[in-house]
Amino acid sequence: MPKNDLIAAITPEITAIRRDFHRHPELMYEVQRTAGIVADKLKEWGADEVVTGIGKTGVVGIIKGKKADSGRVIGLRADMDALPIHEQTNLEHRSTVPGKMHACGHDGHTAMLLGAAKYLTQTRDFDGTAVLIFQPAEEGGAGAKAMIDDGLITRFGIQEVYGMHNKPGVPVGRFEIAKGPAMAAADRIHIKIEGKGGHAAAPHNVNDPIVASCALVSALQTVASRNTNPLESIVVSVTALNAGEAFNVIPQNAEIKGSVRTLTPETRDLAEKRITEIVEGVMKAFGMKYELEYHRGYPVTFNHAGQTDFVTSVAKEIFGSDAITTDIPPTMGSEDFSYMLEERPGAFINIGNGDSAGLHHPAYEFNDEAIPVGVNYWASLIEISMPQRG
Ligand code: NI
Repeated sequence: MPKNDLIAAITPEITAIRRDFHRHPELMYEVQRTAGIVADKLKEWGADEVVTGIGKTGVVGIIKGKKADSGRVIGLRADMDALPIHEQTNLEHRSTVPGKMHACGHDGHTAMLLGAAKYLTQTRDFDGTAVLIFQPAEEGGAGAKAMIDDGLITRFGIQEVYGMHNKPGVPVGRFEIAKGPAMAAADRIHIKIEGKGGHAAAPHNVNDPIVASCALVSALQTVASRNTNPLESIVVSVTALNAGEAFNVIPQNAEIKGSVRTLTPETRDLAEKRITEIVEGVMKAFGMKYELEYHRGYPVTFNHAGQTDFVTSVAKEIFGSDAITTDIPPTMGSEDFSYMLEERPGAFINIGNGDSAGLHHPAYEFNDEAIPVGVNYWASLIEISMPQRG
């Protein structure tokens, strides 16, 4: 059967699976139901090996081509987790779990990679091994890292790895990618401040943590404006400043939280160093006790040049020469596929989701029309990267 006909034939089943996932969203590592269905389908369709429990609830499906003489092993990754958002759509297949929703389209990512599994197990028109990676806990739980720590890369001998995310606002059938740094490293700061509380009418008898906190928030703005090369990208956002309750009491304590986003390891190191120095200096100047926790989160998502060029050529070959935009600017969002790109060369592509509400919005909708596009992209990537010879 011609490729597009086969993909069209399996799309209804994959769409039904996607909507089933959407009805039953699961958070972080608690994706047991989703992972169970993924593993069952991979076995049902004849994957050569199905491994569960990697990175707690991750699943890996191995599919070998008709030949495996090339020794090539390519990893494709999808994420399975939903978000703690209460869905506000009237879709027939809307979430059945209050307060949980697939608002980032990971149900679609998982379904599209399953579609590729169904296609590849039926055709196997490649020379090598496809490793299909279904990970938990992309939304803040570093599920990719948990799978790597469980031996994902070495155990299956993965040589290159590829990821995908849907993108609202980009038409279905179109792709976007950025070479090099594509998404930011995302770090967290948490500062606990202790002064000396007391009566608001006697400020000379207290040591006010609110005034000190305000000075600190102002000083932190200089990391971006005065310390970082203006041609480099950085975000230092204070996102919480909590202190006090009453009109007439100066509090004892204050607390500051924030997010730091950078696109290069050098800028990331600079940000941590300057924030640490500024907090120390300002707190000393105001006579505050403090604790600073600087937590390094997901690293920069770095698309390797050769693999970015390769997936660009795949998208052009399958969907047309104007189907992919390759010069999009990086975004300051973050993505834990970055951990896999630190281990092996690869590329992370955006696939058009058409006009929908944005990612992480309660009215977001994954566009099922993207399913055959995503299945075709994954299947073609495997077939073109590991061609059969002779
Ligand atoms: Ni996402």
